[in-house]
Amino acid sequence: MGKASRDKRDIYYRKAKEEGWRARSAFKLLQIDEEFNIFQGVKRVVDLCAAPGSWSQVLSRQLYLPAKSSAESKEGDVPLIVAIDLQPMSPIEGVIQVQGDITNARTAQLVIIHFDGSKADLVVCDGAPDVTGLHDMDEFVQSQLILAGLTIVTHVLKEGGKFIAKIFRGKDTSLLYSQLKLFFPTVTFAKPKSSRNSSIEAFAVCENYSPPEGFHPRDLHRLLEKVGSPSGGSHLDCSSGWLEGPNKVYIPFLACGDLTGYDSDRSYPHPKEADGSSYQSMDPVQPPIAPPYKRALELKKASAQSIRDA
Ligand SMILES: C[S@@+](CC[C@H](N)C(=O)[O-])C[C@H]1O[C@@H](n2cnc3c(N)ncnc32)[C@H](O)[C@@H]1O
Repeated sequence: MGKASRDKRDIYYRKAKEEGWRARSAFKLLQIDEEFNIFQGVKRVVDLCAAPGSWSQVLSRQLYLPAKSSAESKEGDVPLIVAIDLQPMSPIEGVIQVQGDITNARTAQLVIIHFDGSKADLVVCDGAPDVTGLHDMDEFVQSQLILAGLTIVTHVLKEGGKFIAKIFRGKDTSLLYSQLKLFFPTVTFAKPKSSRNSSIEAFAVCENYSPPEGFHPRDLHRLLEKVGSPSGGSHLDCSSGWLEGPNKVYIPFLACGDLTGYDSDRSYPHPKEADGSSYQSMDPVQPPIAPPYKRALELKKASAQSIRDA
């Protein structure tokens, strides 16, 4: 799909370019904040799976830049934002970048070093594996990424803090909900208006971090296994009827964002140019600097060249 055609079919893609966001995902975090006020009182944040960086931009614009320009701000008073991704990303003001794998145990240590002994008020995770299109498989891999995020949460989030994580809805959603409820008394699954209805994506908004008494992060997996394991596994397998009848788990599910605003599944005409000239599509704000598909493109180019040379 060309840029101009995508501008019509994806209003949030166009708006992202107009407002200087690196990805349309920025609107998802903004709409979650509109509904849940997640940035209130936040001084330290971890952005997991942050590249190309639109959520980090939101954090910088909402938290860092206003504090920096505020006349009352003393040195050391500005929010601390640490962003992690497997991929490098170009700099964002007020954001410390760490290149790393969130499933690696050392990653939490890298975050802790930056926080200098203090803990985060908010952890956000928009992590997504390369989607295969096989829903069960994608949901499973996604849930593993959330559990990696939860592991980091147990090391770096302060009591009372919040955790926002992308989920893929599927047959293990109830299991995931029950696991998150072990640590957060309030868990809501939210679908921002900018997230397409056709996508199985939603976001777990987990509030008021309260780990069980005596909890140690090394016990996390044992604790989660007590609740259950993904479909095909043991006791709380959600497809086996365990969560039916009196055990049924009702998951609070909320559509969020300005519901009278743009619909991500609708096409909108290009805006009229003021001088009557034809519509000019803008370039993306910041293309990924080392996307995972870069190698594939290089191989394709080399193969086309060798065919031409033959
Ligand atoms: C949907 S993108 C995130 C978009 C980002 N929130 C933004 O607003 O620009 C998903 C990201 O997850 C990252 N990711 C996937 N698995 C990861 C892992 N194990 N550790 C760190 N990052 C990971 C990918 O590299 C990718 O950049």
